[in-house]
Amino acid sequence: MPLLIDTDPGVDDALAILMAHAHGEVAALTVTAGNVGLGHALRNALKLVETIGADTPVFAGAAAPLVRAAADAAFVHGRDGFGDTGYRAPARRAADEHAALALLRLSHAHAGRLTLVAIGPLTNLALALRLDPALPTRVARLVVMGGAVTGRGNTQLVPAEFNIGFDPEAAHVVFTGFPHFDLVDWEASVRHAFDFERFERWVAAADPRARFYAAISRKVRAFNRERGRPGVLAADALAMAVALEPGIVTRAEDRHVAVELDGALTRGATVVDWERRLGAPANARIVLDVDQARFEALARAALGTA
Ligand code: BDR
Ligand code: CA
Repeated sequence: MPLLIDTDPGVDDALAILMAHAHGEVAALTVTAGNVGLGHALRNALKLVETIGADTPVFAGAAAPLVRAAADAAFVHGRDGFGDTGYRAPARRAADEHAALALLRLSHAHAGRLTLVAIGPLTNLALALRLDPALPTRVARLVVMGGAVTGRGNTQLVPAEFNIGFDPEAAHVVFTGFPHFDLVDWEASVRHAFDFERFERWVAAADPRARFYAAISRKVRAFNRERGRPGVLAADALAMAVALEPGIVTRAEDRHVAVELDGALTRGATVVDWERRLGAPANARIVLDVDQARFEALARAALGTA
């Protein structure tokens, strides 16, 4: 099953992309603004593909959210999105096609087989859906990293998680346009953090992927410690694990999830009808837990430390 990864790299995006290349077939990376601006995100995607030695095509997409401007997450991921290591510029260039158009083209080329893994704001997916609302009929599976299903988000709007809060309108388009998708939220990624010391050992490996990841993740690892987090949080890697190995999920709930677009305190919140009060069909399989040992094995192998 080929994977198409929509991403805003982003340190945890990088781990997810390494995992996808280690364990799956990657049809393309489509890039959006999010953690950092589109220019940096694109350069990071190209650099990563080059570091892996893959020939995965990379497409540039949205430079801004659909409706309202939003703050990036450079304070977490670094001004360049990859920990400000000053890496040598990639020689590779992006393909000459907009990400949303590439996504639609590839959905035809791999009709019924494509797994979409969305690990950034959902702007590119929303654009593709508005161009062609039949997109979901050709996609085998959509896995979204986003949301905070009981309101414990990670942005200045307290209940909102970054990917949904960055472009709530795009998330609304995707959550209402796809009849069913897997949702891996921020709260699950907090429950599935990597132990700090163990992670340090993995990235100390000699493999070029581990060396690159050790460098770009240094600031984020320190940030996680300073914030008192339970370990290294890798939300996008968790979503990728679910995409690569659906059987890794040990606990999930099917529910209807909607996105708040207006609330002064809650814009970007994911509102889950936990009690099934509205009678609306469940659009999301909310992933609550995965097999942690298996998740770690997938991540470790992607760093060449299996
Ligand atoms: C999500 O936001 C971004 O900062 C990460 O890359 C991840 O996709 C976590 O909330
Ligand atoms: Ca991301």
